Amino acid sequence: MQREQWGSRFGFIMAAAGSAVGLGNIWKFPYLAGTEGGGAFLIVYVGFLVTIGVSLMMAEIAIGRAAHLNPIGAFRKLGGNRWMPVGALGVITAFILLSFYSVVGGWTVAYIVKSISGSLVGGTAEELGQQFGALVSSVGEPIFYHGVFMALTIGIVLAGVAQGIERSVKIMMPALFILLLILVVRSVTLDGAWEGVVFFLTPDWSQVDGGMLSAALGQAFFSLSLGMGALITYGSYLNADANIRSASCWVVGLDTMVAVLAGLMVLPAVFAFNLDPGAGPGLTFITLPAVFGEMWAGAAFQVFFFVMLLIAALTSSISLLAIPVAFFSEQFGIERKKSAVIIGAIIFVMGVPSSLSMGLWADFKILGLPFFDLMSELVDRVLMPVGGMLTALFAGWVAFPKMAEELTNRGTLPFPMLNVWKWMARVFCPLAVGWVMYVGLA
Ligand code: PHE
Repeated sequence: MQREQWGSRFGFIMAAAGSAVGLGNIWKFPYLAGTEGGGAFLIVYVGFLVTIGVSLMMAEIAIGRAAHLNPIGAFRKLGGNRWMPVGALGVITAFILLSFYSVVGGWTVAYIVKSISGSLVGGTAEELGQQFGALVSSVGEPIFYHGVFMALTIGIVLAGVAQGIERSVKIMMPALFILLLILVVRSVTLDGAWEGVVFFLTPDWSQVDGGMLSAALGQAFFSLSLGMGALITYGSYLNADANIRSASCWVVGLDTMVAVLAGLMVLPAVFAFNLDPGAGPGLTFITLPAVFGEMWAGAAFQVFFFVMLLIAALTSSISLLAIPVAFFSEQFGIERKKSAVIIGAIIFVMGVPSSLSMGLWADFKILGLPFFDLMSELVDRVLMPVGGMLTALFAGWVAFPKMAEELTNRGTLPFPMLNVWKWMARVFCPLAVGWVMYVGLA
């Protein structure tokens, strides 16, 4: 049987960008920029994106297309059994990441429902903060919505690659972009917003320390969907004449742009409403409804915004679910649909403790962290960087001839910087990642 393929080059770029652009950009990036000190974090983060990020993205897509397999199969096919654990690490990371990602996706669904019912419009920032706290700390409601989000994710994956994934992202990504632009304009023109613009765009280098570097690197991986084989999986459906390099640059460029726009949407409003930029995971959910309260047709914009956020989250979550689904269906011959449902259900269950750790189980801590934070830190600071580092070493040392073929489309596409890329993969990326992990965890 012919392996499924993306319908067009635009479709692939949109799908990869859809995977990259998600809650990571709009929910996570603004609050990290807030807690990690604004401008300096932004610059370090972008620095990681355009060096390590681009190189690794090219490596992952090339590995996927060279092998036409899921990450575990791909590492084995190109590197032998010895390298298989790297793929396995990726699949495990995807399970963990999706389990708490879906909890936040669920909050988004809840906010759509609340926006439509009108219960979020018009509150003060303080009331909005309390509402957010009440939602995430309750038991049934966030778990229910986490289930809804997971069900939506499964539904799209069931529809298959070209049909389900590609068709939805092609329309939704551009729409998201336009909405963000509108919201940035509203946010930066609020009274007192300028302070937030300054906070976000001017670096205060005294903020740079090991913890901040590792948060920025983790966010670069998270935001670009690197280090767990999402792009190996998507690359495995890519046709032979697509240009991996330009696609990678497009994806990194779009992802960076959306993160910067999201920062400009959230942080100026945070200052305008006298909220605390270091407030953490609730920041986007609390600040934006306050912005909508100040906006012409705010109630409508609010519904529209959370729907877009949901879509951005779904185009990412489907790429996460696609990883284990590709693995189980390719390696064990389990039917794709069946494996999507079973794996989705397992991941849902894994997400329940994360959700409960915001309320009922808040005092149950491991290594001093509630379960949600533990999972998120584990993924950000350990699993993705380790996966990325090993992937770079693999691409640079073990599979380089194959990579060179893929990156030049078997010699038909000149790539003058191939050697630069090779040494990025062989030495720079692994060393930089290793060093950042060391200073971050030390
Ligand atoms: N990049 C996604 C986001 O920013 C999250 C993600 C990570 C998706 C890893 C797939 C794989 O929201």
